[in-house]
Amino acid sequence: MSDQFAPSLKQRSVHFRIPSASETALFTPDPKLLEAQHVVAFSNRHLASRPFSLLRSQVVKRMTAGGHRIIGVTSPAPGAGKSFLTANLAATLSRLPGKQILVFDLDIRRASLAENFGLVGETGLERFLAGETDDLRKVGRHVEGTNLTLYPCYSNDLDSMPLLAGARFTAFVESLRVLGDDTIILFDMPPVFANDDAMVIAGHVDAYLMVIEQGRTNQKQVVDSMRLLEPAECLGSVLNRYDGGMADPYGYSYGGYGKYTDYFSKED
Ligand SMILES: Nc1ncnc2c1ncn2[C@@H]1O[C@H](COP(=O)(O)OP(=O)(O)OP(=O)(O)O)[C@@H](O)[C@H]1O
Ligand SMILES: [Mg+2]
Repeated sequence: MSDQFAPSLKQRSVHFRIPSASETALFTPDPKLLEAQHVVAFSNRHLASRPFSLLRSQVVKRMTAGGHRIIGVTSPAPGAGKSFLTANLAATLSRLPGKQILVFDLDIRRASLAENFGLVGETGLERFLAGETDDLRKVGRHVEGTNLTLYPCYSNDLDSMPLLAGARFTAFVESLRVLGDDTIILFDMPPVFANDDAMVIAGHVDAYLMVIEQGRTNQKQVVDSMRLLEPAECLGSVLNRYDGGMADPYGYSYGGYGKYTDYFSKED
């Protein structure tokens, strides 16, 4: 640990140093890999990016209204599209001028941020959370030409609960909270029913997005999940793999990604 860079955790008033974009390594994703991973929202010319632009407006509006800085993305059960949504929301948010978008892969047991963007590395966020390093410059990767910095996990051989439940994780989140107003932070979270991780993380976010998978997530699962996450605030729900047909509220054709739309639970 570098004393100059990250003060000791023993000095409880000082936390971890969250690097600026220029302090993390630059990374240029392969466009073909992004397409294969369904990360489409970097370009507003991509037809499938349209629903994400709409979602971005809603999310920013609600975050601004609530003074929110840290948003989690979760779902009742696995595989609903949390990481897909997180990656694309991050990509579309990164097009906003004057914003810094930070994404942390906190689904430690089923991490996929590295795979979604084609990142390879040694020191993942799990190593930082485990206390093996305090230097987040080793973890962060700034996506070239954007306002987006990614903090992936590379291995899932660690027990996630001790990484999330201790004072170190609390100090880490507090460190994020002192970043400037221009910063938007997304946590890719585990599903609620998998284990306790989502509930622990929900205790640290300002609000969360609930991903609902069309045809697989039922109302009881959503209600039960939201109850388990209380008192965390639900920013809204997002209906994924939505087979809109005639009822598609936006009337768009989304090409290969046609089964996606946003479906906020709150009225505007
Ligand atoms: N609307 C969609 N259109 C196309 N592909 C999608 C869509 N939603 C999800 N996918 C794909 O489905 C797969 C599972 O989605 P994803 O990994 O985002 O789920 P998850 O909720 O994060 O799962 P886990 O609980 O394992 O973390 C991924 O390959 C993702 O790219
Ligand atoms: Mg995931």
